[in-house]
Amino acid sequence: MYKAFYSLSREPFVKGLKTADSFVSAAFAEARARLDYLKKVKGMGLLVGEPGAGKTFTLRAFADSLNPSLYKVIYFPLSTGTVMDFFRGLVTGLGEEPKFRKVDLFHQIQKAVLTFYQERKITPVFILDEMQLAKDLFLHDLSIIFNFGMDSENPFILVISGLPYMQDKLSLNHNRPLSQRLVMRYKIEPLNKDEVAGYIRHYMSLAGAKHDVFSDVALGAIASHSRGWPRLVNNLATHCLLCGYQAKKELIDEEVVRLAIQEMGL
Ligand SMILES: Nc1ncnc2c1ncn2[C@@H]1O[C@H](COP(=O)(O)OP(=O)(O)OP(=O)(O)O)[C@@H](O)[C@H]1O
Ligand SMILES: [Mg+2]
Repeated sequence: MYKAFYSLSREPFVKGLKTADSFVSAAFAEARARLDYLKKVKGMGLLVGEPGAGKTFTLRAFADSLNPSLYKVIYFPLSTGTVMDFFRGLVTGLGEEPKFRKVDLFHQIQKAVLTFYQERKITPVFILDEMQLAKDLFLHDLSIIFNFGMDSENPFILVISGLPYMQDKLSLNHNRPLSQRLVMRYKIEPLNKDEVAGYIRHYMSLAGAKHDVFSDVALGAIASHSRGWPRLVNNLATHCLLCGYQAKKELIDEEVVRLAIQEMGL
């Protein structure tokens, strides 16, 4: 279908882009720099952003940048399972057989973290995604588990990621024990207009486009309708390719973007 019409070797705006092919927007670069800072100082950090801002993608890029002989990445999206499943998952991720009771699991996690750090010289990196779903009790549990207060330095890296209201949630009084220990906080902002154009061209050239398929005006229209949120840009640009192909337009112009917006009900 549209792939052949636009002479593309693959569909451009699909999930699962290799992180080596990231589009380096200002927000992406800054988020990566903050995560690298967290890597240096260790401890807990917070990465928030609106839906489709690029949190999971950025976390994946960070994880891919870590040398596996020095860092052990344990990625958890909170969307599935119960809190106990989550703690069991942490234990399993650290290569142990989970015990039954919660209190035993906590000790197991702490012990395994220390073994990794002190004996194997490997820093465990916990990436907890979609944390807006976390209940307060769970946040409290985290502040207890990841309290290695007696040590001079933190033997772990923990990134908490979620929607922006996560930040407000953490600033509530009862969540202070956790929020006070965050050494890094960052909110991913959307792409600006020029970045949206660069982003689309970047994806198109990765998919083998030899010339501009989107007109400048079309790029501007996509930027304003998506407000610069990468996932929306992906969806809208894909619809533009479909509509452009149906209308047999080699250059996607404002009219095609209008049709695509209508079709998506934006
Ligand atoms: N820097 C980037 N370079 C290339 N693609 C990106 C970049 N940032 C985001 N994307 C694209 O945007 C899509 C949405 O990003 P992602 O899934 O990371 O959003 P999210 O913030 O985790 O959203 P949610 O809150 O819904 O989980 C990704 O599938 C990816 O294709
Ligand atoms: Mg995500």
